[in-house]
Amino acid sequence: MYPTIFVIIGITGDLAARKLLPALLALYIKKLLPPRFAIIGFSRRAFSRDEFREFIRERLNVRPGEFHEEDIKHFLDHVSYEQGFFDNMPAYERLAGRLQEIDERWGQCSNKLFHLSVPPNLYETILTHLAASKLTLPCDDRTGWTRVLIEKPFGYDIETARSLDKLLGKLFDEKQIFRIDHYLAKEALQNILAFRFMNPMFEPMWHRDHIDKVHIKLFEKGSAEGRGAFYDKLGALKDVGQNHLLQMLALIAMNRPRTFGAEDIRAERAKILDKLVRLSAKELKKTAAKGQYAGYLAESGVAGNSQTDTYFRVVARINTPRWKGVPFYLESGKAMAESKAEIDVYFKSAAKHASPKKDGAAHQPADQNILTFRIQPDEGIKIKFFVKTPGYAFNVEPKTLKFKYADVTSFPDLPDDYERLINDAFAGDQTLFASTEEIMASWKFITHILEHWPEVTLTVYERGAKEIA
Ligand code: BG6
Repeated sequence: MYPTIFVIIGITGDLAARKLLPALLALYIKKLLPPRFAIIGFSRRAFSRDEFREFIRERLNVRPGEFHEEDIKHFLDHVSYEQGFFDNMPAYERLAGRLQEIDERWGQCSNKLFHLSVPPNLYETILTHLAASKLTLPCDDRTGWTRVLIEKPFGYDIETARSLDKLLGKLFDEKQIFRIDHYLAKEALQNILAFRFMNPMFEPMWHRDHIDKVHIKLFEKGSAEGRGAFYDKLGALKDVGQNHLLQMLALIAMNRPRTFGAEDIRAERAKILDKLVRLSAKELKKTAAKGQYAGYLAESGVAGNSQTDTYFRVVARINTPRWKGVPFYLESGKAMAESKAEIDVYFKSAAKHASPKKDGAAHQPADQNILTFRIQPDEGIKIKFFVKTPGYAFNVEPKTLKFKYADVTSFPDLPDDYERLINDAFAGDQTLFASTEEIMASWKFITHILEHWPEVTLTVYERGAKEIA
């Protein structure tokens, strides 16, 4: 593995503590980081060397006994800090000097990975300063690549997404840009492609002739507490609809890629997202639901009269011969009864296939077969099917075939989303990162909804609701 420096811009923020640092430590312990690697934090706060080390140690979120203290100490030896304001050119020059120093010490031009761990309104300032200080340039054509990792939200609407994309396009090649949608890194979500394309028995059924509807859900028990100011600007549709739910839809609906390489998979995901049908105001008002949990207005940072959605349900349609007429329900809410992400594929009812009984009366029609991809928790797959109830009469009842990752003793623990993402960014594999085409296609669909979103009635629901009418 080639020597690499991972620069976390905004290392003092919440994301670095919750996701990045624990993931980097786990990769280090699993020996998945290059032998020569360094992590440099860049942020506004001033620290002494010891204070910074202590600050990072706390944020590694290690459970008692999880790792050896020696390993943690060695990991911390790779982490250092450069203080600077995000709009201050000399700070970036100091950062560039620091990177150069490390390269000189290693006697090699290293790879550089920049992670923007900051609110999106700072992206432009940071990217332009990184570029101006030449930090975005690789050493030469063959050694020392630079890559940039961008977190969602990728813009607040199609216009801001487009201008961010334009800026990125000016500074980097597409192969250097890693746009994070951490849902793509979830093992059970990646498994959708394996399940669909490695089990030929399902593919002929994957069609409007046999599929009645698809229901994609992302429910969370957690509320917007603690991130009110940020969340209030977005709402559920933008926060998770524009990205996570549409990526789930893409994996369910896309055509078989030519190869299982990043380019082909991303291209197929983008193609299907591009075929999402624009919803008319009338259809939206008839079919969409929008909710806000009771008490949301009292969250700190939320406007007193906020109309922001913490729950939504919309019906997406895809204009392709395979999917014409099949509704894809997208539903997500915060402060719900349970946390779960799953996708139900409903097959057409057996009623139309049922042959009459000997006496001419119709059989009790079996209900629909349902194939469920459980994304989290209790990751797995289940299929609802029907069997004859033993006995003299011909009656059927539902049963379930189940596969749960946790039940397979030979399976390793499922990798954490961020471990997987960082690992792939090091390796240069963009399969689990959204392409510019995917981002634009999903924004196009969401923007059309947003145009009429205020016309959809906002329902207030109780915290802990199981479903919203
Ligand atoms: C994030 C959203 O992208 O995804 C959060 O901003 C949401 O609001 C989170 O809670 C859900 O991710 P996960 O992996 O916890 O299901």
